Amino acid sequence: MSVFKKLKKHLNFYLLVIFSSSRFLSRIYFVFSPRFEEENFRVLKGRLKYLINIKSKNSNSLLRRNIHRLEKGMYMKNRRKKFATSYIKETVEMFLNYDHFDVKSDQEYLWSSHVLSNYFDICELNHDLLMTKNKFVSVIKEKHTLNATKDYISKSKLSLSPLPTFSEFQNLCHSRASVRWFTDQQPPIEYIRKALNTASTSPSACNRQPYRFIISRSSKFTKSILDCTGGTAGFAHQVPALVVVIGNLDYFELEKDRHLIYIDSSLAAMQFMLSCKTLGLSTCTFNWPDVGREDKKISKVIDLKSSERVIMLIGVGFADDKIQIPTSQKKQNNDLFTEIQ
Ligand SMILES: Cc1cc2nc3c(=O)[nH]c(=O)nc-3n(C[C@H](O)[C@H](O)[C@H](O)COP(=O)(O)O)c2cc1C
Repeated sequence: MSVFKKLKKHLNFYLLVIFSSSRFLSRIYFVFSPRFEEENFRVLKGRLKYLINIKSKNSNSLLRRNIHRLEKGMYMKNRRKKFATSYIKETVEMFLNYDHFDVKSDQEYLWSSHVLSNYFDICELNHDLLMTKNKFVSVIKEKHTLNATKDYISKSKLSLSPLPTFSEFQNLCHSRASVRWFTDQQPPIEYIRKALNTASTSPSACNRQPYRFIISRSSKFTKSILDCTGGTAGFAHQVPALVVVIGNLDYFELEKDRHLIYIDSSLAAMQFMLSCKTLGLSTCTFNWPDVGREDKKISKVIDLKSSERVIMLIGVGFADDKIQIPTSQKKQNNDLFTEIQ
């Protein structure tokens, strides 16, 4: 290591000692350090887009969150006679503009109509609520969705069967491993679609699901994405398919929620990888570090909005059985958890 590099390392160490000694000093450090610049920029872009979407009544985020809040309220033990009064009007107004949403689906429309319709059936209505109900009913009557809405009975997820046994699930988890070497065979697109649809059953904060996926089965496209970052040196050329997991910060009004894109996407990504395994496919996650340069690079390859962040890349394919994979020992028991009785 050169003298200059050694000095830089020493200096860096002492700077950290000083600036990590208080919250105030750490704030000063980041005024001068550009390390969080990309995140700060995209979080602000996301917040702004959130507010613009609310103003233009085009907020998939607000609708999903509020419909979720209504459902939670409806299924409360000792439910109140009147609830959700502070946000029901904005929810219905948003719903009435659903046709003009950028992000929409028939299933989402049906879910929202069903929940709203149930809400108005069970909630004690004052004059204002009655007016809101009338607006809602006139629109869904006009669209002839009232009956479809009544027929939409969410199947009890808790009684779905047959479930895998613990040991079957344990085997599934144990058999998943990061595979970096694949056969030439392309994974069928239906498999990837199926696995992603299953991934989307994962939990997400207020059921907003602030993510989307890009599937690449083109070796040229996959290569240009993998070229944007490190982590795949030596084996990138033979990754048959790639899923780019993208989080969307315009689902959130406040900075405090900025981590939800990482949490929600990762929960979905894990389900995707396990689903792939059941279909005979192997996967490997590729890191997407928080480096502005790399975001700018990938923006030239994929359409990445300024309020979006790449969360991770997932390579997918049929494992090349002739190549060994790392053991990757896992932490267990005392290394992993503390028990409090
Ligand atoms: C967020 C994340 C980023 C990762 N990045 C890379 C990567 O860039 N390159 C790579 O070869 N493996 C990468 N991996 C795979 C890990 O090395 C692997 O999951 C770990 O060693 C455990 O092995 P296992 O997945 O086989 O259990 C990543 C995994 C995660 C969860």
